[in-house]
Amino acid sequence: MLQECKTYKKLIAKQFAQDFKSAIEIVELPIPEPAPSEIIIRNKFAGVNAGFDTLICRGEVSYVNLTPPFDLGVEAVGEVVAVGKNVTDFQVGDAVVTTARGGGYREYQAINADLAFKVREATPEILTLMPTGVSALVALEQVGEMKSQEVVLVTAAAGGTGHIAVQLAKLAGNHVIGTCGSDTKGQLLKELGCDRIINYRTENLNQVLKQEYPNGVHLVFDCVGKQVFDTCVDNLAIRGRLVVVGFISEYANNFEQVTQPRIYQKLFWKATSVRGFLMPLYKEYMVEARDRLLDLFYTNKLKIAVDPTEFQGIESIAAAVEYLLSGRNCGKVVAGL
Ligand SMILES: NC(=O)c1ccc[n+]([C@@H]2O[C@H](COP(=O)([O-])OP(=O)(O)OC[C@H]3O[C@@H](n4cnc5c(N)ncnc54)[C@H](OP(=O)(O)O)[C@@H]3O)[C@@H](O)[C@H]2O)c1
Repeated sequence: MLQECKTYKKLIAKQFAQDFKSAIEIVELPIPEPAPSEIIIRNKFAGVNAGFDTLICRGEVSYVNLTPPFDLGVEAVGEVVAVGKNVTDFQVGDAVVTTARGGGYREYQAINADLAFKVREATPEILTLMPTGVSALVALEQVGEMKSQEVVLVTAAAGGTGHIAVQLAKLAGNHVIGTCGSDTKGQLLKELGCDRIINYRTENLNQVLKQEYPNGVHLVFDCVGKQVFDTCVDNLAIRGRLVVVGFISEYANNFEQVTQPRIYQKLFWKATSVRGFLMPLYKEYMVEARDRLLDLFYTNKLKIAVDPTEFQGIESIAAAVEYLLSGRNCGKVVAGL
């Protein structure tokens, strides 16, 4: 009732397009009343997943079958402003996080109460954990079979996903190499305890790995793709595992067409493996991962890096997506709403 006559803004993909900006539109709608099992959340911050956002606006996310118009954004933290009559677990004023597709880039959302999770405070830091940190944890442990006392390489290590992966690999007792593209990012990685920081603009990744890690890397968490992926495959240790977390170097452009010997020529002789990771296909691990990450965060065992560049309002999302794809960010990109 309180929200009668009030409207809110959200971002939709009105059409498929090669770049995010050409696909989107801001629409204004009345704030809904909650259905019996729903809560209404005023989103305060949304996490920016520029790779996913761009690919979904191109119609290239194969596991979702959407026809425009559709809602954009995924994770958000905010405050409960209304509660459906069957909802008993939430109250107006509760701080919550949600990770539903379409629930991020909007000022208000109506969501089934089962899909929201209470947190202590609706701060941007939470968005580095859910679902970003959850992805890092599940990819390392379930796909990469992370052990201890191994050499682990994280690419885009100072990014939203990478900086959590670095810390989880360290907490598990590994020697961690992190790649990044600037000294500022290198400084963050130092603070996170990264053992060998490679700024790929001043050092050659392949040379460093060949010279300093002649026995190879046991586990690679690759976010970048292209030449970085090739170099990582070439430098895997015997029985080394490479997890394809993403290939951000390709998202801003058309995908590269590569003609070269089939990858089994590389994998076979060292019994290495390349494993794809996609969070929605590992849903059963999310709750446990979320709880462990929150515990690490609340007990100060995990440091959180949110990129300091300010993006404010639905109007700023396109710039935030562009900024992340430019590779300049240090930590998770978050927009205030
Ligand atoms: N599989 C899944 O379910 C899943 C879930 C979450 C995220 N991801 C993936 O994880 C990766 C990281 O995502 P994020 O949202 O956390 O982004 P991010 O790491 O915060 O930002 C991207 C970073 O990539 C690095 N990068 C390296 N080469 C680049 C290039 N050619 N162009 C642009 N950036 C480049 C940049 O840092 P440096 O220059 O310092 O390297 C940049 O800061 C993405 O590939 C994403 O798709 C996958």
